[in-house]
Amino acid sequence: MSFEPNIVPPEVDYGTPESPSKELVTLRIDGREVTVPKGTSIMRAAKHLGVTIPKLCATDSLKAFGSCRLCIVEINGRRGTPASCTTPVEPGLEVTTQNAKLAKLRKGVMELYISDHPLDCLTCSANGDCELQDMAGAVGLREVRYGYSGANHFDAKTDDSNPYFSFEASKCIVCSRCVRACEEVQGTFALTIQGNGFKSKVSAGVDEGFLKSECVSCGACVQACPTATLNEKSVFVLGTPDYAVETTCAYCGVGCTFRAEMKGGEVVRMVPSKNGKANDGHSCVKGRFAWSYATSRERILHPMIRENPTDPWRRVTWDEAIRYTAQKFLEIQGKYGRTAIGGVTSSRTTNEEVWVVQKMIRTAFRNNNTDTCARVCHSPTGYGLKQTFGTSAGTQDFASVEETDLVLLIGANPTDAHPVFASRMKKRLREGAEIIVCDPRRIDLVESPHIQASVHIPLLPGANVALINALAYTIVEENLADWDYVKERCDAEAFEKWLAFIKNPKNSPEAVAHLLGGNAERVREAARRYAKAEKAAIYYGLGVTEHSQGSTMVMGMANLAMLTGNVGKNGVGLNPLRGQNNVQGSCDMGSFPHEFSGYRHVSDDATRNLFSEAWGVEQDPVPGYRIPNMLDAAVKGIFKGMFIQGEDIAQSDPNTHHVEAALSNLECLVVCDLFLNETAKFAHVFLPGTSFLEKDGTFTNAERRLGRVRPVMPPKTGKHEWQIPIEIAKAMGYEMHYDSAADIMAEIARLTPTFKLVTHDRLDHEGSMQWPVTDEAPMGTPIMHIGKFVRGKGNFVVTEFVPTEERVTPKFPLILTTGRILSQYNVGAQTRRTMNNVWHDEDVLEIHADDAAERGIKDNDLVTVRSRKGETTLHARISERMQPGVVYTTFHAPGSGANVVTTEFSDWATNCPEYKVTAVQVATAENISAWQKRYFDMNESRRKLEEMVG
Ligand code: SF4
Ligand code: SF4
Ligand code: SF4
Ligand code: FES
Repeated sequence: MSFEPNIVPPEVDYGTPESPSKELVTLRIDGREVTVPKGTSIMRAAKHLGVTIPKLCATDSLKAFGSCRLCIVEINGRRGTPASCTTPVEPGLEVTTQNAKLAKLRKGVMELYISDHPLDCLTCSANGDCELQDMAGAVGLREVRYGYSGANHFDAKTDDSNPYFSFEASKCIVCSRCVRACEEVQGTFALTIQGNGFKSKVSAGVDEGFLKSECVSCGACVQACPTATLNEKSVFVLGTPDYAVETTCAYCGVGCTFRAEMKGGEVVRMVPSKNGKANDGHSCVKGRFAWSYATSRERILHPMIRENPTDPWRRVTWDEAIRYTAQKFLEIQGKYGRTAIGGVTSSRTTNEEVWVVQKMIRTAFRNNNTDTCARVCHSPTGYGLKQTFGTSAGTQDFASVEETDLVLLIGANPTDAHPVFASRMKKRLREGAEIIVCDPRRIDLVESPHIQASVHIPLLPGANVALINALAYTIVEENLADWDYVKERCDAEAFEKWLAFIKNPKNSPEAVAHLLGGNAERVREAARRYAKAEKAAIYYGLGVTEHSQGSTMVMGMANLAMLTGNVGKNGVGLNPLRGQNNVQGSCDMGSFPHEFSGYRHVSDDATRNLFSEAWGVEQDPVPGYRIPNMLDAAVKGIFKGMFIQGEDIAQSDPNTHHVEAALSNLECLVVCDLFLNETAKFAHVFLPGTSFLEKDGTFTNAERRLGRVRPVMPPKTGKHEWQIPIEIAKAMGYEMHYDSAADIMAEIARLTPTFKLVTHDRLDHEGSMQWPVTDEAPMGTPIMHIGKFVRGKGNFVVTEFVPTEERVTPKFPLILTTGRILSQYNVGAQTRRTMNNVWHDEDVLEIHADDAAERGIKDNDLVTVRSRKGETTLHARISERMQPGVVYTTFHAPGSGANVVTTEFSDWATNCPEYKVTAVQVATAENISAWQKRYFDMNESRRKLEEMVG
């Protein structure tokens, strides 16, 4: 397969950040006129003219600091030689950047640096990619008058503790770029400059090394370092990169843009791109470092089939695998009927790949049995926002948080699950915005360096709707609503109905305080703050949606936002923090069994006719099976064939026993994935998929932003993933043809009004865009519902609080809730195949000290977690984050079996599973099942091995 990478030019460092000012200033630099926004530094203005002023402590991702004195200039009429990085432009300035005096001074500065720097350039990992080296050249340094024999730091110890980067202290010039990056960009404050003068040095934590410090391995310091002091270990192995391709991270819904920096077809490092509108040049440990899974040797690169899941796999050609799949599916339909097969699309794949899977199902399978893994995460978002606002998506862009005065954070833990957005949010909080956290646990945003929530409501899992109603009740009772907004923008009848409902004292904070941490006044305080803030924004996550009342809660939050006039402008809104990279996209693409792309119901004649005509197959007006329906029907024996793309439902879906029973009943299970996952244990056909490094297409992030995914290498499987469903459809008798992923996007745009003007070409040339991208908004729509809701009038919906059926009892007295951790991702299929295991190699049970003491549990004891559905064994972690009565775990490792205990309860509207509430009992483990013993033993031996290897 021929392959031409889409190479992008190197990034330019303007030295200092862009000024947001609209006011322009004109000055002269080296005799040439330049006009720039007010507030721009002279250094940046010069760069716009193509003049590079030497610098060391400045870089355009950080505020100017002015410590190295290399960037000095002369200004006509002013005394001295000011630093150009800290001196802003002024009208009429006459600046000189280069003359004999400046050159001499700069040379002197460089001599001082170089006299205390190991001169091992030829063997240095950053040779050719080092600003110090460049600056020595730029100032024409040929000799160092002070010699190299004075006191120096050549013996300073290297810290190699971080698995991805090293800190070679002997090369440090103490420019503090790393310290400032950790503070300003990441907001973790893990680094400090210790000591003064000659003794000053960079320290991670309290001089404890990067791994043991608070460092979250985001890589911002590495990127900011001008020398080889902080450098990626992959560069040591592969050498400095030769070219870069810009693409989008394949992990979470933030959708960060990265430059895949390459050498001879191999990825050397992933560096966040300054062009990235979602990430603004920042990254987290997953996107930045945890990409080696994509080229892991464990990947399966060839198709395989087997008659029975108990048989060994047989390697076959693509042709045979496709033929076999099609034949099996046709046989099943012949035997059990048209609706006995279906498929699941993946939020890990591109929009284009999702599109062809749902199209295969609606055309070749001739039914609507298509669903997506978004079913188990954000389907209530789609439903709730459609009902209230008219569009199944968040209202803002990420940049909106920079304008907000108050963040109401509900059921989301961005520092772990959406880290790059969390950094942006924390920056705004440090600037003075306040945050209210509603979460059963004391997550980082309740209290961390320079962050203090004004209110934390430690509600019980399952009490979200009681909370949102209590907040609305207070706002109405205390007359804090924006009545004019409601009158002008919302449906009067629906509002009156809702108002009568919400005024009922059963919704008051006092009535439900026992569910909300026992303090009604605290809830009232939160309501007052939210209502009184000039611009208040709600951010939420799976702690909202994965409940039996997930959809109700989404609508409750929409009610609250409308009640206070917080929709339709910058800095406000309702912002779902989506889980996987393309959750928004997989929903947009018509993966749901009741909707075509753009959230149009299959029963709508006009839409159905459009698709019937375009695809030449009469479309079914009846919604198909959702994933839980497919599983139930499989258990009943009426659903027999399934195509699962990039989703490990045996591990990720609730009530594992039920899922396994369903999968075992299938006559043909086709798994399309990178690895032989847990679901593949039940499969008859395995079709190898492609990693994000091989994909061509688009992902849509949590802010509706379509970002290009560009391949850096050809598909290792010999086939684009988008070709697979096309070929299966063809073998089943339905002809589909596309020349490229861009061709698929052209069809998406043709058939989906909100994507009307989207093309790969436009995204390549004009940058990422947020849908709707239409004639009215050709460059996309950062903020929705300005002036008018998409549905016309905003719709208040009555949100009665109905407690979940999953109740605590004396037998199951604790509530288990689940979530994510920064270093791992979902079921761990990717991150477990990287060195991220250093931080989290097994799921643990967080438990409050009182609950532990009551049960005789000590930290790190093995404990059994038993629910009505099953039991599993985990190590206990006594945690101050927990409240009594609530325990918590993650679900990143297959060995932990967290979903063995979760129930089949689900959201009433969308069937999104209630992962967040399971009544359990916890006790010290007496007997561990054999499979779990193997898992713990394996972890233990790996730990020992790692210790031995150092
Ligand atoms: S990797 Fe990130 S968190 Fe760690 S020290 Fe560097 S900037 Fe701070
Ligand atoms: S580690 Fe790099 S960025 Fe940090 S102070 Fe040293 S030279 Fe500067
Ligand atoms: S925040 Fe999300 S999209 Fe960005 S680098 Fe991390 S995992 Fe990737
Ligand atoms: S770059 Fe301006 S003082 Fe260092």
